[in-house]
Amino acid sequence: KTSASSPLDPFAMVSAEMATLGKHISQLIGSGHPVLNRVASYYFEAEGKNVRPLIVLLLSKALSKIPINERNRIIIDQYDVNTQKEFKGTPKAFSFAGADPLKSISPLNILHGINPNIILNPLSRPMIDQDEKSIQLDIKNGILPKQRRLAEITEMIHTASLLHDDVIDFSDSRRGRESGNIAFSNKMAILAGDFLLGRASVSLGRLRNSEVVELMSTAIANLVEGEFMQLKNTVINPDLTTINNDGQLKKIPLPTGKVPVKVHEYSINGTSNIISHNDNVEAAFQYYLHKTYLKTASLMSKSSRSTAILAGCNEELIENCYQFGRNLGLCFQIVDDMLDYTTTAELLGKPAGADLKLGLATAPVLFAWKDKPELAPLIARKFSQNGDVEIAKIAVDETNGVQKTLELAIKYRDDALNNLRVLPESSARSALELLTNSIITRNK
Ligand code: FPP
Ligand code: MG
Ligand code: MG
Repeated sequence: KTSASSPLDPFAMVSAEMATLGKHISQLIGSGHPVLNRVASYYFEAEGKNVRPLIVLLLSKALSKIPINERNRIIIDQYDVNTQKEFKGTPKAFSFAGADPLKSISPLNILHGINPNIILNPLSRPMIDQDEKSIQLDIKNGILPKQRRLAEITEMIHTASLLHDDVIDFSDSRRGRESGNIAFSNKMAILAGDFLLGRASVSLGRLRNSEVVELMSTAIANLVEGEFMQLKNTVINPDLTTINNDGQLKKIPLPTGKVPVKVHEYSINGTSNIISHNDNVEAAFQYYLHKTYLKTASLMSKSSRSTAILAGCNEELIENCYQFGRNLGLCFQIVDDMLDYTTTAELLGKPAGADLKLGLATAPVLFAWKDKPELAPLIARKFSQNGDVEIAKIAVDETNGVQKTLELAIKYRDDALNNLRVLPESSARSALELLTNSIITRNK
């Protein structure tokens, strides 16, 4: 933000919304206790990358370019005042004569009778907030008020998870200064994270959209599931469950259960009761990617999905936005895991070279293991013996593990860029492309 920003600069395009976002979050996290206020607002004071709210805001803006009749999926029971007949239909069948097209953007506006001839069958829908209409009409920069609020909620959930993460990772720095656990203690950092989650949930409930509430609540649960997979990466819990997009509880089809429980028993030839090296590496990668989805991509994908739902998009568009967030999120975390190997704490503003010391086998060392089966016991004992970390680092160097990790991230970046091509060309879409590309080239 120091150099003159180009018209497509992702941040500049929604800078007004980003400024309001900060103000709103401050209002949302005020409490009766001055110390809690300090801890809860601590990570918002130092500038983060704001990737998550940028995704929500820019995606909102890009979706606003799609004409309402091409995005709307709502099929509702309706009642035609003139013919006095009930019918089912999508809003594309309606005429918007007399209505400001920009203000017709939300299906909720239709529900509220911007077209005076069409009203909702009062029996078919629950009551909607009294003040919903005026709130929802306040569209700025193509972004709905509820989408602005979703951006705030997403950043609050993310920040809560960072407060907890720094406790779990024994981190000493974040965003260029002491991390919350160091500045205030573990207990206060955990409680402040919980508090942020609570306030984010209040705001989420106020969206009055149960589908979005379910999605974002599932994202919170996924963060914890991902973190557990990381802590317990030698055991696969067969009962790991999630709530799918329909809100139903389902089992996650997890990889084979071989990862990397018995990595030391690998055999290149593989016999009936011994897992082959290739199978083991393959399963470990699946486990790694699934963990990465849960801990990082879930929040990005489910907030992207929610953005499209709030815009009244059809199922196809919603799914496409979901996939965009998923691919971007996977790319983002894989790059994060790469930077842990390639850069310094000073540049990152947080610890570098930390993952091996924490016992974590991320993409670079998994690629090394592919070529060097002898790394198996080190991975299995989480690099806990003297010299393990150094051996692993050398193995990563010798096998171009970092380069291969970058290539994996680039694959997900390309998938994310392909998802964006479904959206109509617009400056917001270009800004999203820029943001997507910048994930790969970032150095912090
Ligand atoms: C950063 O990863 C951490 C996450 C992406 C998620 C952490 C989730 C939890 C701690 C579960 C608790 C969740 C909530 C909602 C309170 P990292 O440690 O690899 O990255 P870093 O280098 O930025 O620390
Ligand atoms: Mg961490
Ligand atoms: Mg962590």
